[in-house]
Amino acid sequence: MATWSAPGKVFLFGEHAVVFGKSGLAMAIKPRVYVTVRKVRNPAKVNSPYIEGCFEELGVTGSVYIHSQLPSSSGLGSSAAVTVATLCAINDEFGLGLTRSDIASTAFNIEKKVQKGRASPTDTFVSTYGGLVLIKDGKRRRLPPENFNIVIGNTMVSHKTSELVAMVGEFRANNPLVVDPILDAIEAVTSRSMHNFQNLKLLGRYMDINNALLEALGVGHPALSRLITASRAAGAYGAKITGAGGGGCMIALCPKRSKSKVAGAIEAAEGKAIITTMDTEGARKEEDNGNNGSNGRSDYIKTGR
Ligand code: MEV
Repeated sequence: MATWSAPGKVFLFGEHAVVFGKSGLAMAIKPRVYVTVRKVRNPAKVNSPYIEGCFEELGVTGSVYIHSQLPSSSGLGSSAAVTVATLCAINDEFGLGLTRSDIASTAFNIEKKVQKGRASPTDTFVSTYGGLVLIKDGKRRRLPPENFNIVIGNTMVSHKTSELVAMVGEFRANNPLVVDPILDAIEAVTSRSMHNFQNLKLLGRYMDINNALLEALGVGHPALSRLITASRAAGAYGAKITGAGGGGCMIALCPKRSKSKVAGAIEAAEGKAIITTMDTEGARKEEDNGNNGSNGRSDYIKTGR
């Protein structure tokens, strides 16, 4: 039996712009997905295409038990975390000798297959390696860790990343003169933010600007605006949509002392708040202590394949 976990992610800056080759900044977050894999002779069929994809890709069969701290379909990279943790657990249980880089690329290929061609290489990279990740010139690299206090607000409004990415792509194709400067401005904000990690007030202001630019791209939503406005009023340095938008989640960069107040404001505005900081470990092996390594509630159980 092998148990591994992998973290979710948020985009601090640059979502959507990265799809057009601009730079962006993503960060692994503390909530994780925990996966236990066990060699068994006749495993039951699993009902997740991601997990099925992992077993198929690695050519083995086994049973799976999952505990997730990440809400699904909310833009926090839960499918990437499930895929990465499952690949790591299979790799360990069956002694396949895959490296971290193999895991990241295999996870991306599985996501691409399941999501019919469109997947985020950022999600699988960040979940595998953890930390702060710069996306630049189509490549991803880890930056030194930063201690950002982040409150995530989940609108619980479901959204489809593929549809939002397609919508922005179409908007750009029909209006390049309008959309290209917006994408350039998002990239400028990302690039200036990297020189101002210690100036949290300015970083918050950049988040506000990035949010306005995302709204200009058409990926805002009234529920996101409500949580963003509430966070700012409760003392956040700044707040923005994170991920594809159109629902899903927002993030607020907060002074340490204001985290709870911002989380309370998000909940009062009908969102679900998660107080978090950066995860620096990425995928990690958990103790096989019988509670799936997570010390928490089990959201769902799959005895897979
Ligand atoms: C989704 O989390 C972020 C997008 O930029 C898509 C991507 O990076 O693949 C909208």
